[in-house]
Amino acid sequence: MTSDLITHVVVPGTFDPVTLGHIDVIRRTRRLFPRVTVAVAASANKHGRGTTFSLEERVDMIREALVCEGLPDDIEVEPFTGLLVEFAKGLGAGGVVKGLRAMTDFEYELQQADLNSHLSPDLESVFVMSNPQYGYVSSSIVREIASMGSDVSTLVPANVNARLLERYGR
Ligand code: PNS
Repeated sequence: MTSDLITHVVVPGTFDPVTLGHIDVIRRTRRLFPRVTVAVAASANKHGRGTTFSLEERVDMIREALVCEGLPDDIEVEPFTGLLVEFAKGLGAGGVVKGLRAMTDFEYELQQADLNSHLSPDLESVFVMSNPQYGYVSSSIVREIASMGSDVSTLVPANVNARLLERYGR
């Protein structure tokens, strides 16, 4: 087992679409680690369904949102297919960072972390507690509210709000 200092981490997710909760986690991760790559999963989401936004749209929305929200411009955003551990290994990243909201996240995230640790024992899983302000915010909640014509402008970056309005109208 390595004891090398970790300087590069990935923040993975489906980001369908990116929310202010995700942006908060990415911002805080960049305070902890000098190099951060946001890894956007191509595949279906955790419930096995397809995504609402294409991979290209999800990557573009995050890149725009990072600028819009004033995050450091050295944060990279990359799509990936296949196993997260393989993607992280290919980048030479030493850890995976995820946000944790309620206990309901914990069981799912622990299972993912255990699996990733089994597949790649040197890859560290790190969790940051979500900002209470965004504890109830999720991409699926945002999609649901927006699809019913309600306002999500306090839950997502402005560029994402504009895309949701294009998609669902008001
Ligand atoms: O935003 P999400 O849905 O919590 O992100 C989940 C994600 C994309 C991080 C996870 O599904 C993932 O790592 N997918 C890549 C495939 C993989 O490595 N699977 C092994 C763990 S199940």
